[in-house]
Amino acid sequence: MQSRPSDPVATLTVVGDVHRWWRPADAAFLERTRPDLSLFVGDLGDEDVPIVRAIASLPVPKAVILGNHDAWQSFGRRVATDRLRESLEVLGEDHVAYAVREVPRAGLSLIGARPFSWGGQSLRSPELYDEIYGIHTARQSAAAIVDAARNAQHRDLVILAHNGPLGLGDQSHDIWGKDFGKPGGDWGDRDLALAIQRIEGFGLRVRAVIAGHMHHRLVHPRGGERTRFVRRGGTMFLNAAFVPRVQKAENGDELSYFLRTRWQAGECVAVEEVWVDVHGDEREASTPTFVELEGGAPAVDELHEGDEPAQ
Ligand SMILES: [Fe+2]
Ligand SMILES: [Fe+2]
Repeated sequence: MQSRPSDPVATLTVVGDVHRWWRPADAAFLERTRPDLSLFVGDLGDEDVPIVRAIASLPVPKAVILGNHDAWQSFGRRVATDRLRESLEVLGEDHVAYAVREVPRAGLSLIGARPFSWGGQSLRSPELYDEIYGIHTARQSAAAIVDAARNAQHRDLVILAHNGPLGLGDQSHDIWGKDFGKPGGDWGDRDLALAIQRIEGFGLRVRAVIAGHMHHRLVHPRGGERTRFVRRGGTMFLNAAFVPRVQKAENGDELSYFLRTRWQAGECVAVEEVWVDVHGDEREASTPTFVELEGGAPAVDELHEGDEPAQ
């Protein structure tokens, strides 16, 4: 859709991996600025129901995709714990896994990808995905993301995921590159890359993929910083995982991190990194620099797309 000056400008504000760094000031900032939708990319805590409740009870429109930490003990047992079940119940429809949420003022539909992603090639516990979503393989997971997109009312889509897709680089500093263990390698999600390939094959436009999981500060090389803003063709990839998201400024003030995106008729018109103080007031905003990737997405092999149950 071509935007016109009369089209409204909608705001989608992103909260990266929380890891329990959530302050009353953060809630105040969202309540006061009232984005059209607040997006949470997960890792709220380690199956931490009180923090899930704090997010779920925010009196603002929101969409959440839970991360691997939010299902940590469940993955260990390969069965959903009471705490994970309670987290999902508390969030209800605000947990958008494999679902669509319309954002009419932005001219777009939000699609939720697979929750709890650890990255890499494995689903880690197909048993757990089967129990909750009836999904056992990466192929089925890709199909469920595609099904959500088929139900979207808009042709312009934003995908909310915990981890980003395969195909954006295999260096440890790349947006979803592996920086731990034996560093190097593409740690993106194969099911998400495959889903995007199919969705674009229908002529829908994936305008942005918003995720986190791979933290901004690298384990190897120690202290290095990750690329978190990438554009390829008509798609932006945003990694919101600035961890911890509360940082001490030089003057001692504690500021927390948000990403603010603005949309008009399905097109992104601004991205800003925003720092908020203990009163919930905005203190700094800056426009990040995007790395531009040439060419299209590498084709995801339809024949070897992770049909096998993971180990
Ligand atoms: Fe995380
Ligand atoms: Fe994570």
